[in-house]
Amino acid sequence: MFTLETPRLLLRDLVPDDAAPMHLLRSDPIVTRYCEYIASETPEQAERWVRDTMVHNAMDPRFSYNLAIVHKTDGAVMGWIGIGQATDPTLGELSFGYALRPAYWGQGYTTEALTALLTFAYEELAAASVQGECATDNPASGRVMQKAGLRFVERRPEDDGSESDYYAATADEWRSRRSG
Ligand SMILES: CC(C)(COP(=O)(O)OP(=O)(O)OC[C@H]1O[C@@H](n2cnc3c(N)ncnc32)[C@H](O)[C@@H]1OP(=O)(O)O)[C@@H](O)C(=O)NCCC(=O)NCCS
Repeated sequence: MFTLETPRLLLRDLVPDDAAPMHLLRSDPIVTRYCEYIASETPEQAERWVRDTMVHNAMDPRFSYNLAIVHKTDGAVMGWIGIGQATDPTLGELSFGYALRPAYWGQGYTTEALTALLTFAYEELAAASVQGECATDNPASGRVMQKAGLRFVERRPEDDGSESDYYAATADEWRSRRSG
């Protein structure tokens, strides 16, 4: 099983037992307000998403890493983080997403998880560039991306009339931001 370890967290491939905690995450309107794309209303939808994601995770060659964010101390499944081929390759080769259950917000967990995922992307997958985006009224997510070493690129209008902030870094930019 693919895993990444940080001081407090284990990021690991999803398993069937993650369906219940992923349902809690994906059916919480406070969580999905800024990332509607992960919303699922029923336990069955969450179960199907976990199953489909496991299929993608098992592909060889592997194009995406969708991982459970697990607390090392008590084994709690706190959220999800994933990275894969970018939808808009002009901004970055890979793009990512993440969401944490609200009980765990504000303790630096997502920054810790994203930093580990970006280190893996740049150092192991040899990504030339990585990008992420968030709604303009989701400053916590923008802050996470900045703290993990990405830079603000631009604000873009979306098809639905909203706006998003885009963050990215080439491998060289990311390394110099991490060391500086
Ligand atoms: C966005 C999210 C992942 C952040 O997770 P987290 O573990 O709380 O993030 P961290 O604790 O690592 O960092 C949050 C940072 O945002 C800051 N922050 C929080 N709310 C903020 C606000 N309203 N305005 C500005 N900064 C804010 C925090 O102070 C912290 O920065 P600091 O360490 O400099 O003080 C979490 O809120 C979440 O899951 N939200 C719902 C799903 C979502 O929005 N996913 C991303 C879609 S793009």
